[in-house]
Amino acid sequence: MDNRLFFHATERNRESIGEVLSRILLTRGYILEIGSGSGEHGVIFQKCFPEITWQSSDPELIHRKSISSWIDHEELNLKMPQPLDINVEKIPWEIPSELLLYIQGIISINMIHIASWNCTKSLFNESGKLLKNGQFLMLYGPFKIGNKHISQSNELFDISLRMQNKSWGVRDLGEVNKEATKNGFIEEELIGMPANNFSVIYRKVSL
Ligand SMILES: C[S@@+](CC[C@H](N)C(=O)[O-])C[C@H]1O[C@@H](n2cnc3c(N)ncnc32)[C@H](O)[C@@H]1O
Repeated sequence: MDNRLFFHATERNRESIGEVLSRILLTRGYILEIGSGSGEHGVIFQKCFPEITWQSSDPELIHRKSISSWIDHEELNLKMPQPLDINVEKIPWEIPSELLLYIQGIISINMIHIASWNCTKSLFNESGKLLKNGQFLMLYGPFKIGNKHISQSNELFDISLRMQNKSWGVRDLGEVNKEATKNGFIEEELIGMPANNFSVIYRKVSL
């Protein structure tokens, strides 16, 4: 059965995210994606970076079915593992031993503002335990800088998020960085992206 979902934002942001990944991805090992959604990013990046293994995950069954369908559709079954059921707040994350051994980095695209603040804390906490020194955690999405929105459209987006769920909202980069520091990460690079988004590369620097 074809359970593929189509998230239109992925069409708009995949190229620019791919450019960032091409600079930071190593040529082998596993990348764990948290909150993969439809799975479109996963199959695209798996094809762009064939030397690595892209491990998608999502807590929603409908999303994991979509990811599996995308893997089938793109004939990546021999290369890409099936998605994991990871809810960042349910700790410890259940991680297969191969991923544990060969993980190189963690990526989460447009997740932390559509989840509670506790999810950001758990994301850094668990990532800090999984990753070794020198490995990265990359976030992509809208952020406030100095507790201020960088555009009116981000401010309106933030209001609409909070109306849907009061625990959601565009996060302040400074607050996110505090969680990073607590868990042994430094903000290595902040990259301005199209449509008032950022990619943030955190590097693990201590155990
Ligand atoms: C806006 S979608 C983004 C999906 C995909 N990354 C993309 O950019 O198209 C947010 C995703 O975060 C996932 N998510 C929400 N809460 C989560 C949690 N507690 N742990 C992990 N993922 C979560 C949702 O299921 C959804 O797939």
